[in-house]
Amino acid sequence: MNKPEDVLKHAVYLLKEGKLVAIPTETVYGLAADAENPNAIEKIYTAKGRPHHNPLIIHLPDIEAMSLYASCVPEEALSLAKRFWPGPLTLILKKNNHVPSIVTGGQDTVALRMPNHPLTLELLRQFGKGLAAPSANRYGKISPTTAQHVQEELGDSVDYILDGGSCQIGIESTILYLADSKPRILRQGSISAKEIADTLNYELPLSNSNAHAHAKEKQIHVPGSALSHYAPTKPLLLLDKDKLVPSLKTLLLQNKKLDIVCFTETSPLIKETNHITIHKVALDPKIYAYNLYGLLRDLDKTNSDYILIEAPPLFPAWDAIRDRLQRAAFKN
Ligand code: TXA
Ligand code: MG
Repeated sequence: MNKPEDVLKHAVYLLKEGKLVAIPTETVYGLAADAENPNAIEKIYTAKGRPHHNPLIIHLPDIEAMSLYASCVPEEALSLAKRFWPGPLTLILKKNNHVPSIVTGGQDTVALRMPNHPLTLELLRQFGKGLAAPSANRYGKISPTTAQHVQEELGDSVDYILDGGSCQIGIESTILYLADSKPRILRQGSISAKEIADTLNYELPLSNSNAHAHAKEKQIHVPGSALSHYAPTKPLLLLDKDKLVPSLKTLLLQNKKLDIVCFTETSPLIKETNHITIHKVALDPKIYAYNLYGLLRDLDKTNSDYILIEAPPLFPAWDAIRDRLQRAAFKN
Protein backbone atom coordinates (compact mmCIF):
# COMPACT_ATOMS: atom_id res chain seq x y z
CA MET A 1 0.00 0.00 0.00
CA ASN A 2 2.70 2.48 -0.95
CA LYS A 3 0.89 4.34 -3.73
CA PRO A 4 -0.36 7.76 -2.48
CA GLU A 5 -3.90 7.03 -3.70
CA ASP A 6 -4.06 3.75 -1.70
CA VAL A 7 -2.59 5.37 1.39
CA LEU A 8 -5.14 8.19 1.26
CA LYS A 9 -8.04 5.79 0.64
CA HIS A 10 -7.01 3.81 3.72
CA ALA A 11 -6.70 6.97 5.85
CA VAL A 12 -10.16 8.18 4.76
CA TYR A 13 -11.63 4.77 5.54
CA LEU A 14 -10.14 4.79 9.05
CA LEU A 15 -11.34 8.34 9.76
CA LYS A 16 -14.88 7.44 8.68
CA GLU A 17 -14.68 4.47 11.09
CA GLY A 18 -13.95 6.92 13.95
CA LYS A 19 -10.23 6.07 14.14
CA LEU A 20 -7.21 8.34 14.73
CA VAL A 21 -4.86 9.24 11.87
CA ALA A 22 -1.70 11.34 12.30
CA ILE A 23 -1.47 13.90 9.51
CA PRO A 24 1.45 15.96 8.19
CA THR A 25 1.02 19.73 7.97
CA GLU A 26 3.43 22.54 7.12
CA THR A 27 3.74 23.40 10.86
CA VAL A 28 3.79 20.16 12.91
CA TYR A 29 2.08 16.74 12.67
CA GLY A 30 -1.53 16.64 13.87
CA LEU A 31 -3.51 13.80 15.49
CA ALA A 32 -6.72 13.83 13.47
CA ALA A 33 -10.25 12.51 13.92
CA ASP A 34 -13.63 13.27 12.34
CA ALA A 35 -14.56 16.68 13.79
CA GLU A 36 -18.25 15.69 13.87
CA ASN A 37 -17.77 12.41 15.75
CA PRO A 38 -17.55 12.98 19.54
CA ASN A 39 -16.49 9.37 20.25
CA ALA A 40 -13.56 9.72 17.86
CA ILE A 41 -12.61 13.08 19.40
CA GLU A 42 -12.63 11.54 22.87
CA LYS A 43 -9.85 9.18 21.66
CA ILE A 44 -7.67 12.20 20.83
CA TYR A 45 -7.86 13.51 24.40
CA THR A 46 -7.08 10.02 25.75
CA ALA A 47 -4.14 9.43 23.38
CA LYS A 48 -2.60 12.81 24.26
CA GLY A 49 -3.44 12.78 27.97
CA ARG A 50 -4.90 16.23 27.35
CA PRO A 51 -7.46 17.92 29.63
CA HIS A 52 -10.90 18.31 28.05
CA HIS A 53 -11.07 22.07 28.60
CA ASN A 54 -8.22 22.55 26.10
CA PRO A 55 -10.00 22.81 22.69
CA LEU A 56 -8.93 21.47 19.28
CA ILE A 57 -8.40 23.10 15.88
CA ILE A 58 -10.64 21.94 13.02
CA HIS A 59 -8.67 21.54 9.78
CA LEU A 60 -10.59 22.42 6.62
CA PRO A 61 -10.31 21.38 2.95
CA ASP A 62 -11.02 24.93 1.66
CA ILE A 63 -12.06 28.46 2.63
CA GLU A 64 -15.76 27.83 1.98
CA ALA A 65 -15.76 25.08 4.64
CA MET A 66 -15.48 27.78 7.33
CA SER A 67 -19.25 28.17 7.21
CA LEU A 68 -19.72 24.45 7.99
CA TYR A 69 -18.54 25.18 11.55
CA ALA A 70 -18.73 28.96 12.14
CA SER A 71 -22.07 30.63 12.89
CA CYS A 72 -20.89 33.70 11.02
CA VAL A 73 -17.78 34.40 8.96
CA PRO A 74 -16.76 38.04 9.38
CA GLU A 75 -15.20 40.03 6.55
CA GLU A 76 -11.83 39.98 8.35
CA ALA A 77 -11.80 36.18 8.48
CA LEU A 78 -12.48 35.97 4.76
CA SER A 79 -9.72 38.46 3.85
CA LEU A 80 -7.19 36.70 6.07
CA ALA A 81 -8.13 33.25 4.78
CA LYS A 82 -7.80 34.47 1.18
CA ARG A 83 -4.39 35.94 1.95
CA PHE A 84 -2.88 33.18 4.14
CA TRP A 85 -4.71 29.88 3.47
CA PRO A 86 -3.66 27.24 2.93
CA GLY A 87 -1.12 28.21 5.59
CA PRO A 88 -0.09 28.56 9.24
CA LEU A 89 -2.90 30.81 10.48
CA THR A 90 -5.71 29.58 12.75
CA LEU A 91 -8.83 31.74 13.07
CA ILE A 92 -11.13 31.64 16.07
CA LEU A 93 -14.75 32.36 15.21
CA LYS A 94 -18.15 31.88 16.86
CA LYS A 95 -19.11 28.21 16.44
CA ASN A 96 -22.36 26.77 15.09
CA ASN A 97 -24.33 23.69 16.17
CA HIS A 98 -22.40 21.28 13.94
CA VAL A 99 -19.41 21.51 16.23
CA PRO A 100 -19.62 19.03 19.10
CA SER A 101 -18.79 20.73 22.40
CA ILE A 102 -16.00 18.21 23.06
CA VAL A 103 -14.07 19.86 20.19
CA THR A 104 -14.26 23.34 21.70
CA GLY A 105 -13.91 22.48 25.38
CA GLY A 106 -17.45 23.77 25.92
CA GLN A 107 -16.62 27.27 24.59
CA ASP A 108 -18.87 29.05 22.08
CA THR A 109 -15.97 29.59 19.65
CA VAL A 110 -14.18 27.28 17.23
CA ALA A 111 -10.59 27.32 15.88
CA LEU A 112 -10.33 26.80 12.11
CA ARG A 113 -7.42 26.44 9.73
CA MET A 114 -6.65 25.14 6.23
CA PRO A 115 -3.21 23.49 6.42
CA ASN A 116 -0.68 23.71 3.61
CA HIS A 117 0.46 20.17 2.91
CA PRO A 118 -0.44 18.45 -0.38
CA LEU A 119 -1.14 15.03 1.16
CA THR A 120 -3.33 16.39 3.96
CA LEU A 121 -5.18 18.77 1.63
CA GLU A 122 -6.00 15.81 -0.61
CA LEU A 123 -7.05 13.78 2.44
CA LEU A 124 -9.35 16.62 3.55
CA ARG A 125 -10.86 16.89 0.05
CA GLN A 126 -11.56 13.15 -0.07
CA PHE A 127 -12.90 13.14 3.49
CA GLY A 128 -15.11 16.07 2.52
CA LYS A 129 -15.39 17.78 5.92
CA GLY A 130 -13.37 18.96 8.91
CA LEU A 131 -10.74 17.03 10.83
CA ALA A 132 -10.15 18.02 14.44
CA ALA A 133 -6.43 17.76 15.15
CA PRO A 134 -4.15 18.95 17.93
CA SER A 135 -0.39 18.49 17.61
CA ALA A 136 0.39 14.75 17.72
CA ASN A 137 2.37 14.73 20.98
CA ARG A 138 1.62 13.84 24.61
CA TYR A 139 0.17 16.82 26.47
CA GLY A 140 2.82 19.45 27.34
CA LYS A 141 5.54 17.70 25.36
CA ILE A 142 7.40 18.62 22.16
CA SER A 143 5.33 18.76 18.95
CA PRO A 144 6.35 16.20 16.30
CA THR A 145 7.78 17.34 12.97
CA THR A 146 8.33 13.92 11.37
CA ALA A 147 6.27 10.71 11.11
CA GLN A 148 8.95 8.98 13.18
CA HIS A 149 8.48 11.46 16.05
CA VAL A 150 4.76 10.61 16.09
CA GLN A 151 5.51 6.88 16.11
CA GLU A 152 7.98 7.26 18.98
CA GLU A 153 5.65 9.42 21.01
CA LEU A 154 2.18 7.94 20.48
CA GLY A 155 2.95 4.40 19.22
CA ASP A 156 -0.11 2.17 19.17
CA SER A 157 -2.56 4.83 20.34
CA VAL A 158 -2.69 6.17 16.78
CA ASP A 159 -4.32 3.91 14.18
CA TYR A 160 -2.34 5.17 11.19
CA ILE A 161 0.41 7.70 10.45
CA LEU A 162 0.29 9.45 7.10
CA ASP A 163 3.96 10.07 6.33
CA GLY A 164 4.39 13.41 4.55
CA GLY A 165 8.08 13.95 5.34
CA SER A 166 9.48 16.71 7.55
CA CYS A 167 7.22 19.68 8.35
CA GLN A 168 8.47 22.69 6.41
CA ILE A 169 7.86 25.37 9.08
CA GLY A 170 8.45 23.39 12.27
CA ILE A 171 6.45 25.40 14.85
CA GLU A 172 2.69 25.66 15.36
CA SER A 173 0.39 28.09 13.55
CA THR A 174 -0.34 31.68 14.59
CA ILE A 175 -3.73 31.78 16.35
CA LEU A 176 -5.92 34.85 15.88
CA TYR A 177 -9.05 35.48 17.94
CA LEU A 178 -11.77 36.95 15.71
CA ALA A 179 -14.90 36.13 17.68
CA ASP A 180 -15.54 39.67 18.91
CA SER A 181 -14.75 43.19 17.75
CA LYS A 182 -11.13 43.11 19.00
CA PRO A 183 -8.95 40.79 16.88
CA ARG A 184 -5.94 39.63 18.83
CA ILE A 185 -3.18 37.07 18.62
CA LEU A 186 -3.48 34.23 21.15
CA ARG A 187 -0.43 32.28 19.97
CA GLN A 188 2.46 33.58 17.91
CA GLY A 189 3.59 31.67 14.85
CA SER A 190 5.36 32.27 11.57
CA ILE A 191 2.66 34.68 10.35
CA SER A 192 3.40 37.89 12.21
CA ALA A 193 1.12 40.47 13.84
CA LYS A 194 2.36 42.95 11.24
CA GLU A 195 1.34 40.76 8.28
CA ILE A 196 -2.10 40.31 9.84
CA ALA A 197 -2.45 44.03 10.59
CA ASP A 198 -1.40 44.90 7.02
CA THR A 199 -4.10 42.61 5.62
CA LEU A 200 -6.79 43.95 7.96
CA ASN A 201 -5.62 47.50 7.42
CA TYR A 202 -5.54 48.32 11.12
CA GLU A 203 -3.29 47.70 14.11
CA LEU A 204 -4.14 44.76 16.36
CA PRO A 205 -5.47 46.41 19.55
CA LEU A 206 -3.65 44.15 22.03
CA SER A 207 -0.19 42.70 22.25
CA ASN A 208 0.18 39.01 22.97
CA SER A 209 0.86 39.47 26.68
CA ASN A 210 -2.08 41.82 27.09
CA ALA A 211 -4.19 39.31 25.22
CA HIS A 212 -3.44 36.77 27.94
CA ALA A 213 -4.68 39.16 30.65
CA HIS A 214 -7.73 40.08 28.60
CA ALA A 215 -8.54 36.43 27.88
CA LYS A 216 -8.25 35.55 31.56
CA GLU A 217 -10.68 38.29 32.43
CA LYS A 218 -13.15 37.01 29.84
CA GLN A 219 -12.44 33.34 30.61
CA ILE A 220 -11.35 32.56 27.05
CA HIS A 221 -9.05 29.59 26.83
CA VAL A 222 -5.60 30.75 25.71
CA PRO A 223 -3.31 28.38 23.79
CA GLY A 224 -0.22 27.31 25.67
CA SER A 225 -1.56 29.08 28.77
CA ALA A 226 0.16 26.29 30.67
CA LEU A 227 3.49 27.98 31.23
CA SER A 228 5.37 24.71 30.83
CA HIS A 229 4.79 23.40 27.31
CA TYR A 230 6.76 22.03 24.35
CA ALA A 231 9.10 20.70 27.03
CA PRO A 232 11.80 18.05 27.00
CA THR A 233 12.06 15.75 30.03
CA LYS A 234 15.47 16.95 31.21
CA PRO A 235 15.98 20.52 32.48
CA LEU A 236 16.41 23.21 29.85
CA LEU A 237 17.95 26.60 30.67
CA LEU A 238 17.38 29.54 28.34
CA LEU A 239 20.21 32.00 28.83
CA ASP A 240 21.28 35.34 27.38
CA LYS A 241 24.69 35.25 25.71
CA ASP A 242 26.43 36.93 28.67
CA LYS A 243 24.97 34.39 31.15
CA LEU A 244 25.91 31.33 29.11
CA VAL A 245 29.57 30.99 30.13
CA PRO A 246 29.10 31.75 33.88
CA SER A 247 26.17 29.29 34.06
CA LEU A 248 28.03 26.51 32.36
CA LYS A 249 31.03 27.02 34.67
CA THR A 250 28.76 26.65 37.73
CA LEU A 251 27.24 23.45 36.33
CA LEU A 252 30.66 22.01 35.45
CA LEU A 253 31.76 22.53 39.06
CA GLN A 254 28.82 20.26 39.98
CA ASN A 255 30.20 17.70 37.50
CA LYS A 256 27.16 18.00 35.21
CA LYS A 257 27.17 17.00 31.54
CA LEU A 258 25.83 19.69 29.23
CA ASP A 259 24.39 20.04 25.74
CA ILE A 260 24.78 23.65 24.65
CA VAL A 261 22.81 25.18 21.79
CA CYS A 262 24.32 28.49 20.71
CA PHE A 263 24.67 30.67 17.67
CA THR A 264 27.73 30.20 15.47
CA GLU A 265 28.89 33.68 16.51
CA THR A 266 28.94 32.69 20.22
CA SER A 267 30.43 29.20 19.88
CA PRO A 268 34.12 30.31 19.90
CA LEU A 269 33.58 31.46 23.53
CA ILE A 270 32.90 27.87 24.63
CA LYS A 271 35.22 24.87 24.51
CA GLU A 272 33.97 21.40 23.75
CA THR A 273 35.09 18.90 26.45
CA ASN A 274 33.87 15.46 27.48
CA HIS A 275 31.31 17.28 29.64
CA ILE A 276 30.24 19.80 26.98
CA THR A 277 28.73 19.14 23.55
CA ILE A 278 28.13 22.20 21.40
CA HIS A 279 25.31 22.43 18.85
CA LYS A 280 25.74 25.45 16.59
CA VAL A 281 22.54 26.90 15.19
CA ALA A 282 21.82 29.35 12.40
CA LEU A 283 20.97 32.97 13.15
CA ASP A 284 17.97 32.64 10.85
CA PRO A 285 14.50 32.23 12.41
CA LYS A 286 13.12 30.12 9.54
CA ILE A 287 15.97 27.60 9.65
CA TYR A 288 15.92 27.67 13.47
CA ALA A 289 12.19 26.91 13.61
CA TYR A 290 12.55 24.11 11.06
CA ASN A 291 15.18 22.34 13.22
CA LEU A 292 14.03 23.29 16.74
CA TYR A 293 11.74 20.45 17.84
CA GLY A 294 13.85 17.70 16.21
CA LEU A 295 16.91 19.08 18.01
CA LEU A 296 15.11 19.22 21.39
CA ARG A 297 13.99 15.60 20.95
CA ASP A 298 17.54 14.51 20.10
CA LEU A 299 19.03 16.37 23.06
CA ASP A 300 16.49 14.77 25.40
CA LYS A 301 18.03 11.38 24.45
CA THR A 302 21.72 12.18 25.04
CA ASN A 303 23.56 11.42 28.29
CA SER A 304 23.69 15.10 29.29
CA ASP A 305 22.08 16.36 32.53
CA TYR A 306 21.09 19.79 31.20
CA ILE A 307 20.28 21.51 27.92
CA LEU A 308 21.53 25.12 27.80
CA ILE A 309 20.15 27.29 25.01
CA GLU A 310 21.35 30.75 24.04
CA ALA A 311 18.34 33.09 23.95
CA PRO A 312 17.50 34.32 20.44
CA PRO A 313 17.68 38.02 19.50
CA LEU A 314 14.87 40.32 20.64
CA PHE A 315 13.61 41.00 17.08
CA PRO A 316 9.94 40.34 16.21
CA ALA A 317 10.96 37.64 13.70
CA TRP A 318 12.09 35.56 16.70
CA ASP A 319 8.98 36.12 18.87
CA ALA A 320 7.30 32.76 18.17
CA ILE A 321 10.56 30.86 18.72
CA ARG A 322 11.27 32.76 21.96
CA ASP A 323 7.75 31.94 23.18
CA ARG A 324 8.30 28.20 22.56
CA LEU A 325 11.75 28.23 24.20
CA GLN A 326 10.48 30.07 27.28
CA ARG A 327 7.74 27.51 27.75
CA ALA A 328 10.16 24.62 27.13
CA ALA A 329 12.40 26.10 29.83
CA PHE A 330 9.67 26.80 32.37
CA LYS A 331 9.57 24.49 35.37
CA ASN A 332 7.00 24.76 38.13
O1 TXA B 1 0.01 24.41 13.65
C1 TXA B 1 -0.91 24.04 14.37
O2 TXA B 1 -1.77 24.84 14.82
C2 TXA B 1 -0.98 22.54 14.73
C3 TXA B 1 -1.29 21.76 13.45
C4 TXA B 1 -1.48 20.28 13.71
O3 TXA B 1 -2.40 22.32 12.81
N1 TXA B 1 -1.99 22.31 15.72
C5 TXA B 1 -1.84 22.65 17.01
O4 TXA B 1 -2.88 22.23 17.81
O5 TXA B 1 -0.86 23.24 17.44
P1 TXA B 1 -2.82 22.23 19.41
O6 TXA B 1 -4.08 21.61 19.86
O7 TXA B 1 -1.56 21.58 19.84
O8 TXA B 1 -2.82 23.75 19.75
C6 TXA B 1 -3.98 24.48 19.42
C7 TXA B 1 -4.25 25.50 20.48
C8 TXA B 1 -4.55 24.90 21.82
O9 TXA B 1 -3.64 25.38 22.79
C9 TXA B 1 -5.96 25.39 22.15
O10 TXA B 1 -6.03 25.86 23.47
C10 TXA B 1 -6.17 26.53 21.17
O11 TXA B 1 -5.41 26.20 20.05
N2 TXA B 1 -7.58 26.65 20.78
C11 TXA B 1 -8.33 25.77 20.09
N3 TXA B 1 -9.60 26.18 20.01
C12 TXA B 1 -9.67 27.35 20.66
C13 TXA B 1 -10.72 28.29 20.94
N4 TXA B 1 -11.96 28.06 20.52
N5 TXA B 1 -10.42 29.39 21.66
C14 TXA B 1 -9.14 29.63 22.08
N6 TXA B 1 -8.11 28.77 21.86
C15 TXA B 1 -8.37 27.66 21.16
MG1 MG C 1 0.10 21.27 20.88
